[in-house]
Amino acid sequence: MIATDARPSNLIGAELAEIDTPALLIDLDAMERNLRTMADFFADKPAKLRPHAKTHKSPIIAHKQLALGAVGITCAKLGEAEVMVEAGVDDILVANQIVGRAKIARLMGLLHHARITVAVDDAANLRDLAAAAGAQGVELDVLVEVNTGMSRCGVEPGEPAVTLAKVAADLPNIRFRGIQAYEGHLVGIADEGERAARVAAAMAPIVATREAIERDGLPVGIVSGGGTGTFALTGTTRGFDEVQAGSYVFMDGAYGTVGGVGGRFAQALTVLATVISRPTADRAILDIGRKTLGTDQGVPFLKRFGRSDDVTFEGFSEEHTKLRVAGPARDLRPGDVVEVVPGHGCTTVNLYDRYVAHRRGVVEAVWPIAARGRAQ
Ligand SMILES: Cc1ncc(COP(=O)(O)O)c(C=O)c1O
Repeated sequence: MIATDARPSNLIGAELAEIDTPALLIDLDAMERNLRTMADFFADKPAKLRPHAKTHKSPIIAHKQLALGAVGITCAKLGEAEVMVEAGVDDILVANQIVGRAKIARLMGLLHHARITVAVDDAANLRDLAAAAGAQGVELDVLVEVNTGMSRCGVEPGEPAVTLAKVAADLPNIRFRGIQAYEGHLVGIADEGERAARVAAAMAPIVATREAIERDGLPVGIVSGGGTGTFALTGTTRGFDEVQAGSYVFMDGAYGTVGGVGGRFAQALTVLATVISRPTADRAILDIGRKTLGTDQGVPFLKRFGRSDDVTFEGFSEEHTKLRVAGPARDLRPGDVVEVVPGHGCTTVNLYDRYVAHRRGVVEAVWPIAARGRAQ
């Protein structure tokens, strides 16, 4: 049994070297600094922070974000929102479309217990939502999702968005609240200047759409977008009201190389792994792999060696990671325990049941990742 499956009381007070691997660690000092840095940024801005909980999937961290001034929480999935509502979070944006009878029924159930806003980009879906809300006697807040150029969900800016906003506003039991506009194709642009120019170009049609809807007499309360790579850009764009950044809480290998972001937030999430084999002088094998490390984006690195060329991640199997080692990393021995900064924090978190949260290497808490796997 791995240590993260042990009862929390078995681990509190333990040092990292005593924790069995693989285990998912939070450096609490680093995470708390990240939470404060982002909260401080928004403290004096017209736009407010509504952090995306898809990164941490943890009610206790969501409550920390709310305590620092976040206006609510963003979720990707209804299942995540259900976990957050059960834990007392009462204002949630599900930044996706809720489609189909079963999910709409669950959404209506949740509306009796919390304020939930959802994204819409289809008139028929809006009518389904309105009918279900009417049957339940509840009101549903919606944001019309508008394409920022990411070309995922969303209607096009301008006339299509205005038309859908009017459909929403005219339906009973639906409250048209504004626009969902996430620029996910721009958040990872490494060069700050290029990122700023592309965000400005992408957001101009969104703000123009807001103005067009308002000219038509519909108040727009919320225009929401932005991620960790763009919070300072989108979050200071006139006409934007909320920012949905999520990854900043932990950072990861991918965001660490994004200009103006990597230096601002600390790496707070690591996977504790053991060197299980040293088959050759330049090869080391870890007991983690695709089932314990999000390998879909970004380049992981060993915390001890930073991003040095002494350690190269050469490949992953389900339960193995192959490292090429040089210089001081050649001293790694079977049994050595290392902290790996994941390339992608969000997909790594979703692989674990619990966080082992430590302060300066001593375990302070074990938190369930309550919304992990809540993909429905
Ligand atoms: C709709 C939406 N908003 C916000 C975010 C936040 O992103 P980040 O992880 O860059 O902070 C994401 C990330 O996938 C997203 O899909």
